[in-house]
Amino acid sequence: MKVLITGALGLLGKVATQKLVDEGHDVTAIDRIDGDVPDGVQLHVGDIEDLDFVRGAIRGAEAVVHLAAIPSPQPNREYEVFRNNVLGGFTVFNAAADAGCRIVAYASSLSAYGTAWSPKWTSPLYVPIDESHPLIYSESYALSKEVNELTALEWSRRCDTAYVGFRFPNTNTPEGLLDFARQINGGDPDLVQTDAKILWAYLDARDAAAALELTIRSDLKGAHIFNIAAPDTNHLTPTAELFAQFHPTTELRGDFSGHQSPVSSEHWLKTMGYAPKYFLDRSAL
Ligand SMILES: NC(=O)c1ccc[n+]([C@@H]2O[C@H](COP(=O)([O-])OP(=O)(O)OC[C@H]3O[C@@H](n4cnc5c(N)ncnc54)[C@H](O)[C@@H]3O)[C@@H](O)[C@H]2O)c1
Repeated sequence: MKVLITGALGLLGKVATQKLVDEGHDVTAIDRIDGDVPDGVQLHVGDIEDLDFVRGAIRGAEAVVHLAAIPSPQPNREYEVFRNNVLGGFTVFNAAADAGCRIVAYASSLSAYGTAWSPKWTSPLYVPIDESHPLIYSESYALSKEVNELTALEWSRRCDTAYVGFRFPNTNTPEGLLDFARQINGGDPDLVQTDAKILWAYLDARDAAAALELTIRSDLKGAHIFNIAAPDTNHLTPTAELFAQFHPTTELRGDFSGHQSPVSSEHWLKTMGYAPKYFLDRSAL
Protein backbone atom coordinates (compact mmCIF):
# COMPACT_ATOMS: atom_id res chain seq x y z
CA MET A 1 0.00 0.00 0.00
CA LYS A 2 1.23 3.53 -0.68
CA VAL A 3 1.68 5.24 2.69
CA LEU A 4 2.73 8.74 3.71
CA ILE A 5 4.43 9.07 7.10
CA THR A 6 5.06 12.46 8.74
CA GLY A 7 7.75 13.02 11.36
CA ALA A 8 9.70 10.14 9.81
CA LEU A 9 13.04 11.23 11.27
CA GLY A 10 11.80 11.44 14.85
CA LEU A 11 12.18 8.89 17.61
CA LEU A 12 8.93 7.12 16.84
CA GLY A 13 8.99 8.01 13.14
CA LYS A 14 12.22 6.12 12.47
CA VAL A 15 10.87 2.93 14.02
CA ALA A 16 7.50 3.29 12.29
CA THR A 17 9.06 4.03 8.89
CA GLN A 18 11.21 0.92 9.14
CA LYS A 19 8.16 -1.12 10.15
CA LEU A 20 6.19 0.13 7.13
CA VAL A 21 9.09 -0.77 4.82
CA ASP A 22 9.48 -4.19 6.47
CA GLU A 23 5.78 -4.87 5.90
CA GLY A 24 6.21 -4.17 2.19
CA HIS A 25 4.51 -0.76 1.92
CA ASP A 26 5.50 1.85 -0.65
CA VAL A 27 6.57 4.62 1.74
CA THR A 28 6.80 8.37 1.23
CA ALA A 29 8.08 10.36 4.19
CA ILE A 30 7.90 13.95 5.42
CA ASP A 31 10.07 15.69 7.95
CA ARG A 32 11.27 19.24 8.28
CA ILE A 33 14.80 18.01 8.92
CA ASP A 34 16.84 16.10 6.37
CA GLY A 35 18.40 12.74 7.22
CA ASP A 36 18.71 9.09 6.37
CA VAL A 37 15.64 7.03 5.57
CA PRO A 38 15.48 3.34 4.68
CA ASP A 39 16.20 2.37 1.07
CA GLY A 40 13.26 2.94 -1.22
CA VAL A 41 11.65 5.64 0.95
CA GLN A 42 11.21 9.02 -0.70
CA LEU A 43 11.77 11.85 1.80
CA HIS A 44 10.13 15.25 1.30
CA VAL A 45 11.79 17.87 3.50
CA GLY A 46 9.38 20.61 4.51
CA ASP A 47 6.85 21.86 7.00
CA ILE A 48 3.47 20.19 7.49
CA GLU A 49 1.90 23.57 8.16
CA ASP A 50 2.28 24.14 4.40
CA LEU A 51 -0.84 22.64 2.78
CA ASP A 52 0.57 22.74 -0.78
CA PHE A 53 3.71 20.94 0.38
CA VAL A 54 1.69 18.18 2.09
CA ARG A 55 -0.62 17.92 -0.94
CA GLY A 56 2.41 17.28 -3.13
CA ALA A 57 3.79 14.55 -0.89
CA ILE A 58 0.47 12.79 -0.22
CA ARG A 59 -0.44 12.30 -3.88
CA GLY A 60 -1.47 8.66 -4.51
CA ALA A 61 -1.28 7.64 -0.83
CA GLU A 62 -3.96 5.28 0.45
CA ALA A 63 -3.00 5.74 4.10
CA VAL A 64 -1.18 8.24 6.33
CA VAL A 65 0.78 7.78 9.55
CA HIS A 66 0.95 11.20 11.15
CA LEU A 67 3.65 11.60 13.82
CA ALA A 68 5.16 15.04 13.13
CA ALA A 69 4.74 17.27 16.18
CA ILE A 70 6.68 18.95 18.95
CA PRO A 71 6.32 16.10 21.48
CA SER A 72 6.21 18.02 24.77
CA PRO A 73 5.51 21.47 26.19
CA GLN A 74 8.45 23.84 25.75
CA PRO A 75 9.04 26.65 28.27
CA ASN A 76 8.40 30.04 26.61
CA ARG A 77 7.46 28.36 23.30
CA GLU A 78 3.81 27.59 24.00
CA TYR A 79 2.58 29.49 20.97
CA GLU A 80 4.99 27.60 18.71
CA VAL A 81 4.04 24.17 20.13
CA PHE A 82 0.33 24.87 19.86
CA ARG A 83 0.56 26.33 16.39
CA ASN A 84 2.85 23.59 15.05
CA ASN A 85 0.85 20.69 16.42
CA VAL A 86 -2.61 22.07 15.77
CA LEU A 87 -2.08 23.61 12.34
CA GLY A 88 0.19 20.75 11.29
CA GLY A 89 -2.43 18.20 12.30
CA PHE A 90 -5.20 20.14 10.58
CA THR A 91 -3.17 20.39 7.38
CA VAL A 92 -2.33 16.67 7.25
CA PHE A 93 -5.94 15.67 8.00
CA ASN A 94 -7.24 18.12 5.39
CA ALA A 95 -4.78 16.89 2.72
CA ALA A 96 -5.66 13.27 3.51
CA ALA A 97 -9.36 13.98 3.02
CA ASP A 98 -8.76 15.87 -0.23
CA ALA A 99 -6.51 13.10 -1.55
CA GLY A 100 -9.17 10.48 -0.80
CA CYS A 101 -6.95 8.57 1.65
CA ARG A 102 -8.76 5.63 3.24
CA ILE A 103 -7.28 6.02 6.73
CA VAL A 104 -5.02 8.18 8.89
CA ALA A 105 -3.33 6.77 12.01
CA TYR A 106 -1.91 9.52 14.22
CA ALA A 107 -0.22 10.12 17.55
CA SER A 108 -2.19 11.80 20.28
CA SER A 109 -0.76 11.46 23.78
CA LEU A 110 -1.45 10.14 27.25
CA SER A 111 -0.58 13.72 28.26
CA ALA A 112 -4.10 14.66 27.17
CA TYR A 113 -5.38 13.32 30.51
CA GLY A 114 -3.45 16.13 32.18
CA THR A 115 -1.24 14.32 34.67
CA ALA A 116 2.03 14.48 32.73
CA TRP A 117 2.79 18.15 32.20
CA SER A 118 0.22 20.26 34.05
CA PRO A 119 2.07 22.71 36.32
CA LYS A 120 -0.33 21.94 39.19
CA TRP A 121 0.02 18.35 40.42
CA THR A 122 -2.80 16.46 38.69
CA SER A 123 -3.95 12.98 39.66
CA PRO A 124 -6.25 10.75 37.65
CA LEU A 125 -9.78 10.58 39.01
CA TYR A 126 -9.60 6.81 38.68
CA VAL A 127 -7.48 4.03 37.26
CA PRO A 128 -7.25 2.10 35.04
CA ILE A 129 -7.48 5.35 33.11
CA ASP A 130 -9.59 4.74 30.02
CA GLU A 131 -10.64 6.84 27.04
CA SER A 132 -13.71 8.10 28.95
CA HIS A 133 -11.58 9.72 31.64
CA PRO A 134 -11.93 13.53 31.49
CA LEU A 135 -9.03 15.47 29.96
CA ILE A 136 -8.07 17.67 32.93
CA TYR A 137 -4.86 19.26 31.65
CA SER A 138 -3.71 22.81 32.29
CA GLU A 139 -1.01 23.24 29.66
CA SER A 140 -1.00 23.80 25.93
CA TYR A 141 0.76 20.67 24.61
CA ALA A 142 -2.11 18.54 25.96
CA LEU A 143 -4.53 21.10 24.54
CA SER A 144 -2.88 20.71 21.12
CA LYS A 145 -3.44 16.95 21.33
CA GLU A 146 -7.11 17.33 22.23
CA VAL A 147 -7.52 19.80 19.35
CA ASN A 148 -5.91 17.19 17.05
CA GLU A 149 -8.48 14.65 18.21
CA LEU A 150 -11.34 17.11 17.65
CA THR A 151 -9.92 18.03 14.25
CA ALA A 152 -9.88 14.35 13.29
CA LEU A 153 -13.48 13.98 14.46
CA GLU A 154 -14.55 16.98 12.43
CA TRP A 155 -12.89 15.73 9.20
CA SER A 156 -14.33 12.24 9.75
CA ARG A 157 -17.84 13.71 9.69
CA ARG A 158 -17.43 15.22 6.27
CA CYS A 159 -15.41 12.67 4.32
CA ASP A 160 -14.86 8.93 4.04
CA THR A 161 -11.34 9.03 5.49
CA ALA A 162 -11.03 7.28 8.88
CA TYR A 163 -8.92 8.95 11.61
CA VAL A 164 -7.44 6.81 14.39
CA GLY A 165 -5.57 8.47 17.24
CA PHE A 166 -3.35 6.84 19.86
CA ARG A 167 -2.86 8.29 23.32
CA PHE A 168 0.68 6.96 23.57
CA PRO A 169 2.41 6.90 26.98
CA ASN A 170 6.19 7.31 27.36
CA THR A 171 7.25 5.61 24.13
CA ASN A 172 10.86 4.85 23.35
CA THR A 173 13.36 2.33 22.07
CA PRO A 174 14.05 -0.64 24.37
CA GLU A 175 17.39 0.94 25.33
CA GLY A 176 15.74 4.31 26.08
CA LEU A 177 13.02 2.70 28.20
CA LEU A 178 15.50 0.57 30.13
CA ASP A 179 17.84 3.49 30.77
CA PHE A 180 14.95 5.65 32.08
CA ALA A 181 13.59 2.82 34.26
CA ARG A 182 17.03 2.17 35.74
CA GLN A 183 17.43 5.82 36.71
CA ILE A 184 14.00 5.87 38.33
CA ASN A 185 14.42 2.65 40.23
CA GLY A 186 17.86 3.90 41.26
CA GLY A 187 16.02 6.79 42.95
CA ASP A 188 17.02 9.72 40.72
CA PRO A 189 15.07 12.44 42.58
CA ASP A 190 14.45 14.54 39.44
CA LEU A 191 12.91 11.65 37.57
CA VAL A 192 10.86 10.07 40.36
CA GLN A 193 8.25 12.84 40.14
CA THR A 194 8.35 12.79 36.35
CA ASP A 195 7.62 9.08 36.32
CA ALA A 196 4.73 9.52 38.76
CA LYS A 197 3.27 12.16 36.42
CA ILE A 198 3.42 9.84 33.43
CA LEU A 199 1.80 7.16 35.60
CA TRP A 200 4.79 4.78 35.31
CA ALA A 201 3.38 3.75 31.94
CA TYR A 202 5.46 2.92 28.89
CA LEU A 203 5.32 1.47 25.40
CA ASP A 204 8.12 0.04 23.30
CA ALA A 205 8.31 1.99 20.03
CA ARG A 206 8.13 -1.30 18.12
CA ASP A 207 4.69 -1.94 19.61
CA ALA A 208 3.62 1.60 18.74
CA ALA A 209 4.81 1.06 15.16
CA ALA A 210 3.00 -2.30 14.97
CA ALA A 211 -0.24 -0.71 16.18
CA LEU A 212 0.03 2.07 13.60
CA GLU A 213 0.76 -0.38 10.80
CA LEU A 214 -2.08 -2.68 11.84
CA THR A 215 -4.43 0.30 11.91
CA ILE A 216 -3.73 1.41 8.34
CA ARG A 217 -4.46 -2.15 7.16
CA SER A 218 -7.73 -2.24 9.10
CA ASP A 219 -11.21 -1.39 7.86
CA LEU A 220 -11.94 1.04 10.69
CA LYS A 221 -14.27 3.88 9.70
CA GLY A 222 -14.99 7.23 11.32
CA ALA A 223 -12.91 8.62 14.19
CA HIS A 224 -11.39 6.57 17.02
CA ILE A 225 -9.17 7.18 20.01
CA PHE A 226 -7.22 4.42 21.71
CA ASN A 227 -4.98 4.10 24.72
CA ILE A 228 -2.20 1.60 24.23
CA ALA A 229 0.43 0.82 26.85
CA ALA A 230 2.48 -2.11 28.08
CA PRO A 231 0.50 -4.09 30.67
CA ASP A 232 3.04 -3.39 33.43
CA THR A 233 4.75 -0.27 34.83
CA ASN A 234 8.42 0.67 34.63
CA HIS A 235 8.68 0.54 38.43
CA LEU A 236 9.70 -2.18 40.88
CA THR A 237 7.26 -0.90 43.53
CA PRO A 238 3.73 -2.33 43.34
CA THR A 239 1.33 0.04 41.58
CA ALA A 240 -1.03 0.37 44.57
CA GLU A 241 1.88 1.58 46.73
CA LEU A 242 2.92 4.09 44.07
CA PHE A 243 -0.61 5.51 43.97
CA ALA A 244 -0.81 5.68 47.77
CA GLN A 245 2.38 7.74 47.76
CA PHE A 246 1.94 9.99 44.70
CA HIS A 247 -1.75 10.02 43.77
CA PRO A 248 -3.61 9.22 47.01
CA THR A 249 -6.88 10.76 45.78
CA THR A 250 -7.12 8.44 42.78
CA GLU A 251 -9.79 5.75 43.00
CA LEU A 252 -8.23 2.36 42.29
CA ARG A 253 -10.72 0.27 40.36
CA GLY A 254 -9.32 -3.22 40.27
CA ASP A 255 -6.28 -5.10 41.47
CA PHE A 256 -3.09 -3.05 41.60
CA SER A 257 -1.24 -5.20 44.12
CA GLY A 258 1.32 -6.15 41.45
CA HIS A 259 2.92 -4.04 38.74
CA GLN A 260 -0.24 -3.54 36.68
CA SER A 261 -0.23 -0.52 34.40
CA PRO A 262 -2.77 2.12 35.44
CA VAL A 263 -3.51 2.70 31.74
CA SER A 264 -6.34 0.66 30.25
CA SER A 265 -5.71 -0.61 26.72
CA GLU A 266 -8.95 -2.63 26.77
CA HIS A 267 -10.70 -0.65 24.05
CA TRP A 268 -7.77 -1.17 21.66
CA LEU A 269 -7.37 -4.84 22.58
CA LYS A 270 -11.05 -5.54 22.06
CA THR A 271 -11.17 -3.64 18.77
CA MET A 272 -7.95 -4.81 17.16
CA GLY A 273 -6.74 -7.77 19.20
CA TYR A 274 -3.09 -6.68 19.19
CA ALA A 275 -1.44 -6.71 22.61
CA PRO A 276 1.99 -5.12 23.11
CA LYS A 277 4.75 -7.72 22.80
CA TYR A 278 7.85 -5.93 24.06
CA PHE A 279 8.26 -5.46 27.80
CA LEU A 280 10.91 -4.10 30.10
CA ASP A 281 13.23 -6.76 31.41
CA ARG A 282 12.39 -6.22 35.11
CA SER A 283 15.33 -8.40 36.17
CA ALA A 284 17.66 -5.82 34.56
CA LEU A 285 16.35 -2.92 36.69
N1 LIG B 1 7.81 9.58 22.37
C1 LIG B 1 6.86 9.66 23.29
O1 LIG B 1 7.05 9.32 24.46
C2 LIG B 1 5.47 10.14 22.89
C3 LIG B 1 4.42 9.96 23.80
C4 LIG B 1 3.15 10.36 23.45
C5 LIG B 1 2.92 10.94 22.21
N2 LIG B 1 3.96 11.13 21.35
C6 LIG B 1 3.68 11.74 20.05
O2 LIG B 1 4.22 10.91 19.03
C7 LIG B 1 4.65 11.72 17.94
C8 LIG B 1 6.13 11.43 17.65
O3 LIG B 1 6.86 11.75 18.82
P1 LIG B 1 8.45 11.54 18.89
O4 LIG B 1 8.76 11.22 20.31
O5 LIG B 1 8.88 10.66 17.81
O6 LIG B 1 8.92 13.04 18.63
P2 LIG B 1 10.24 13.54 17.86
O7 LIG B 1 10.45 14.96 18.24
O8 LIG B 1 11.38 12.59 18.09
O9 LIG B 1 9.82 13.44 16.33
C9 LIG B 1 8.95 14.37 15.74
C10 LIG B 1 9.42 14.59 14.31
O10 LIG B 1 8.47 15.47 13.68
C11 LIG B 1 9.19 16.44 12.95
N3 LIG B 1 8.34 17.66 12.89
C12 LIG B 1 7.87 18.37 13.93
N4 LIG B 1 7.13 19.39 13.49
C13 LIG B 1 7.16 19.33 12.13
C14 LIG B 1 6.60 20.12 11.11
N5 LIG B 1 5.87 21.22 11.38
N6 LIG B 1 6.79 19.76 9.83
C15 LIG B 1 7.54 18.66 9.52
N7 LIG B 1 8.12 17.87 10.45
C16 LIG B 1 7.92 18.21 11.75
C17 LIG B 1 10.47 16.68 13.72
O11 LIG B 1 11.49 17.22 12.88
C18 LIG B 1 10.79 15.27 14.24
O12 LIG B 1 11.64 14.57 13.35
C19 LIG B 1 4.33 13.16 18.33
O13 LIG B 1 3.06 13.49 17.86
C20 LIG B 1 4.30 13.09 19.85
O14 LIG B 1 3.52 14.14 20.40
C21 LIG B 1 5.23 10.74 21.65
